[in-house]
Amino acid sequence: MSYVATSTPSPRHAPAGQDGRHPFHGPADKMDDGEEAVGGAEQEIDLRQLRHHTKNTLQRILGLIARAPGLCDTPQGEKIAQELEYRIGLSATISDALFGLTDAPGSMAERLRRLAGAVVEMMRDTDQVIRAGVSVRGSCPVGLRDTVLRSAHELVSNAVKHGMKGRHTGRIAVRLVSDEDCTTLTVLDNGWGFTGTPRSGEGLTLAHSFAARHGGSLAIYGDDGTVATLELPH
Ligand SMILES: Nc1ncnc2c1ncn2[C@@H]1O[C@H](COP(=O)(O)OP(=O)(O)O)[C@@H](O)[C@H]1O
Ligand SMILES: [Mg+2]
Repeated sequence: MSYVATSTPSPRHAPAGQDGRHPFHGPADKMDDGEEAVGGAEQEIDLRQLRHHTKNTLQRILGLIARAPGLCDTPQGEKIAQELEYRIGLSATISDALFGLTDAPGSMAERLRRLAGAVVEMMRDTDQVIRAGVSVRGSCPVGLRDTVLRSAHELVSNAVKHGMKGRHTGRIAVRLVSDEDCTTLTVLDNGWGFTGTPRSGEGLTLAHSFAARHGGSLAIYGDDGTVATLELPH
């Protein structure tokens, strides 16, 4: 397992462009009104406009913060402006990795790395040092990619929010392995763990339903740190 630094792009710049398709909705999703999803080309045009709009909006907000009268006149104000910019950038990075919101997404390894790095940065306390490592083996089927990423988002968030709560340092490992008939996502942390069965809040409920949608399973053990394993058969 190689650990990667959890650095993320500067909030002053929109996230770098990547190639590839992106379904903003999952492959099986339908339109709200019950109509079939529009065809690929039309959907791509819709997505381009959504990305264009979102990127412009975020850049506009960043510009407003940078030019807010008096905001940067004091060290405290400058710190708030920097924090806002940084977090807007992180939010865009997470949305891009999950949905391609301001740019089309790249490879699974790239998306998982960006996602894990940005989630850790978004969730950690400022004085916490948390290292996140990502490894990817095999080719994850296209139809399972969104499910893997959305689940990883919840599990990595939990690792920081619950596993690392009040700890100065910690490590998180995200592993994705696809073989002939199964894709397995494992998220491990060396944090507090838990006793008994965790009460399912929004995150674990979502992750369980992502697994169920594909006939898979989610198991989570908290005896020695936490190990969460999502198995998706194919
Ligand atoms: N990595 C983890 N380390 C420690 N506890 C965890 C971890 N993941 C989940 N839990 C426990 O499972 C509970 C439910 O998680 P979740 O459904 O994501 O809801 P929430 O994060 O909103 O509390 C958490 O409140 C926590 O007690
Ligand atoms: Mg959670």
